[in-house]
Amino acid sequence: MTSQLAARSSRLVSRVGAVARSAKAAGSKVLLVLASLALVAGCRQDMHDQPRYKALRPSTFFADGSSARPLVEGTIARGTLQGDEPFFTGKDGKDDVTELPFAVDETVLDRGQERYNIYCSPCHDRTGSGNGMVVQRGYRQPPSFHIDRLRTAAAGHFFDVITNGFGAMPDYKAQIAPRDRWAIVAYVRALQLAQHAAASDVPGGDPTKLAKPAAEGSEKKH
Ligand code: HEC
Repeated sequence: MTSQLAARSSRLVSRVGAVARSAKAAGSKVLLVLASLALVAGCRQDMHDQPRYKALRPSTFFADGSSARPLVEGTIARGTLQGDEPFFTGKDGKDDVTELPFAVDETVLDRGQERYNIYCSPCHDRTGSGNGMVVQRGYRQPPSFHIDRLRTAAAGHFFDVITNGFGAMPDYKAQIAPRDRWAIVAYVRALQLAQHAAASDVPGGDPTKLAKPAAEGSEKKH
């Protein structure tokens, strides 16, 4: 009986030895996996039970009963400081700024044209006369950009209208970044000039060719 047991256990020992050897042969990978599994199992529970609130859970700790804390007054997220008032509001104190806050070149105008055609032309149409496709389908008609009041309006007024909306017009603060809003303002100014330019405003132009205004509205082209 004892010798049988001894034989059995020695067989077992050699089997275990074989398994160990083959594991060794398979490289240390197996051991590594086992060890990392053990580690994962070890911290699993801690990771699950972190002392934190789920979003919008109530709390008895704070007097207002909410676990969500309001930002400290005056908090500004990194990189979002809007210190340059004229640039970000179109206003200098109470007054609309009259000039664009940066130099306008062809790149700015191109950008403004592109953004204008995307965001404004659906209502104001591509010439700014206020007869865009959305208006043709029944939306309230905006005033033409070519009326005297808007031709003489300060640049900051246009910036403000884009930023905060105006009457029936929604605001485009979220869709259009401040610099692009200014680029649009520059382009609207260009549209206004284009509709009120005299032949003599075109340097080196042939006045006989410029005398006749184009009959087609640019709306028909697209
Ligand atoms: C959904 C249609 C719509 C879009 C898009 C739109 N507008 Fe308007 N806009 C209007 C309407 C309508 C009015 C007139 C609002 C009123 O008087 O109640 C208006 C008025 C204006 C005015 C005149 C404000 C004044 O002093 O009378 C300006 C300037 C203007 N929009 C600029 C823009 C610019 C720039 C864009 C593009 C960023 C734009 N709008 C996009 C509908 C639109």
